[in-house]
Amino acid sequence: MDRTLSLEFARVVEAAALRSGRLLGRGQKDAADGLAVDAMRQAFDSVRISGTVVIGEGEIDEAPMLYIGEHVGAGGPEVDIAVDPIEGTNLIAKGQNGAIAVMAIAEKGGLLHAPDMYMEKLCVGPRGAGAIDITKSLTENIKNVAAKMERSVEEITLVMLDRERHQGLMKEAREIGARIMLISDGDVNPAMECCIEGSGVHMVVGTGGAPEG
Ligand code: FBP
Repeated sequence: MDRTLSLEFARVVEAAALRSGRLLGRGQKDAADGLAVDAMRQAFDSVRISGTVVIGEGEIDEAPMLYIGEHVGAGGPEVDIAVDPIEGTNLIAKGQNGAIAVMAIAEKGGLLHAPDMYMEKLCVGPRGAGAIDITKSLTENIKNVAAKMERSVEEITLVMLDRERHQGLMKEAREIGARIMLISDGDVNPAMECCIEGSGVHMVVGTGGAPEG
């Protein structure tokens, strides 16, 4: 990745975060999302890429900007782009911490097409890579990740959205002694934290939005 371009990308997400931050705690999640989308869309105009939005605000008929298939950028290398101008719209509306502006860029065809539906997720960072298999039980996965990371199961912390649908997974993880950090919204953030040593987050588990996945 061209270093200059990566800074330009950072400006795009920064624009979304700063603009939508004006509505922090104002109970207006859709309006905040609208500000973030506007800001991100404008910021793209000066980035030297030929980008196609492959994960965005929806199909062309439901989203005026950053819709799936929209072309963005001022011209340059061809890339596919996934955007979530505000990940955690409830958090912004309620004035809580943890909302982020998200963008992922890949070579053409490098991003999974993820329609707006739920997805089962199981994430680890580099130290857990190769130890997970979503077709196996959570118990097996936690034990395998613990072994790979050279920790005891009691030293593994998983993050889960605090949802009724996760009661079974919560029970299973607690029965074998793992720690669970329950969050109200925003499962992209902990997935990134898995990749940062010292964050204290080792796995993200459960069902959440497919575009975020
Ligand atoms: P939004 O920012 O689009 O509201 O998504 C927030 C989020 O918490 C995601 O991080 C998560 O994947 C999804 O919603 C979970 O969906 P639900 O709230 O329906 O359980």
